[in-house]
Amino acid sequence: MKVLITGSNGLLGQKLLHKIREDDTLELVATSIGVNRVSQKTGYKYISLDVTNKREVERVILAQKPHVVINTAAMTNVDLCEDKRSECDSLNINAVKYLANSCKKIDAHLIHISTDFIFDGENGPYSEDDEPNPLSYYGLSKLKSEQLLQAHSVNWTILRTIIVFGVGESLSKGNIVLWAKDALAKGDSLSIIDDQFRAPTLAEDLADICILAAKKKALGIFNASGKDIMSIYELVERVAKHYGMSTDNLNKINTSTLNQKAVRPPKTGFILDKSINELGYKPHSFEESLALMDEQIK
Ligand SMILES: NC(=O)c1ccc[n+]([C@@H]2O[C@H](COP(=O)([O-])OP(=O)(O)OC[C@H]3O[C@@H](n4cnc5c(N)ncnc54)[C@H](OP(=O)(O)O)[C@@H]3O)[C@@H](O)[C@H]2O)c1
Repeated sequence: MKVLITGSNGLLGQKLLHKIREDDTLELVATSIGVNRVSQKTGYKYISLDVTNKREVERVILAQKPHVVINTAAMTNVDLCEDKRSECDSLNINAVKYLANSCKKIDAHLIHISTDFIFDGENGPYSEDDEPNPLSYYGLSKLKSEQLLQAHSVNWTILRTIIVFGVGESLSKGNIVLWAKDALAKGDSLSIIDDQFRAPTLAEDLADICILAAKKKALGIFNASGKDIMSIYELVERVAKHYGMSTDNLNKINTSTLNQKAVRPPKTGFILDKSINELGYKPHSFEESLALMDEQIK
């Protein structure tokens, strides 16, 4: 089975790249904007692809004829999406339409990644059937991308995830677990919000469920987060505990003191039964995830 991934320089993209190139049953075409920043260059084909370029998307997909396309490319900076709405629309919505149209032409299956930010966070944890109500432009853009797939005749899977973390190379952005580990190691005084709850997701787990969905060509929406729900403060506290670091410099604060551009949902988290039962998804616990990252950092 031939799989094409977009955004292969990103955190999820890199994990997919490594897992798919090592899977003898899969052939990989990795694409991302600009040059390939992954140092492992063998065992797959790399094509530079800006998914906001409609003609390029169609040209690459029709030429490569993948059986499955996994779209990981996105504008993920939630505050930036508030300010740069047309850029956000172009990457998070229009690009999905170009991918869906091209996949339809060659009868390819499209797997798309969405987010817990489509919900308002008043009634988490959420099941796949709960009613979305995004509070931010990012969340709205992702909800619109879901809605356009739901109305499209292409075969699609939507995988919704939450705070993706892990170790990658030459990433254009950091993630909260690596940030917390570094900040704790420096002994900085850290003010951490204690009124937002999430189920952080190991990037490897998310890559695994993408591959499970690809192999099954699963249809529909699946929750694809970590299984442990915690406040952001607790997350940092658990990172500190894992590394035997002091929590003396950790202070609890409320979201209202941060003055962030985008409004965040207070409590998300996902019910994972459908993904576990129908796809065979097996997410790691948060502590298992930290241990796995340690192996990679070594
Ligand atoms: N990260 C989270 O906490 C989180 C939470 C919920 C949902 N998600 C969703 O999960 C998915 C994967 O997230 P991630 O954390 O792996 O994101 P990421 O690390 O930001 O990766 C996105 C990749 O897309 C690339 N890209 C940007 N613009 C592009 C374009 N026009 N054409 C092609 N590629 C482009 C980026 O390139 P550069 O590396 O060159 O910038 C980056 O490599 C996204 O759909 C995101 O919305 C993420």
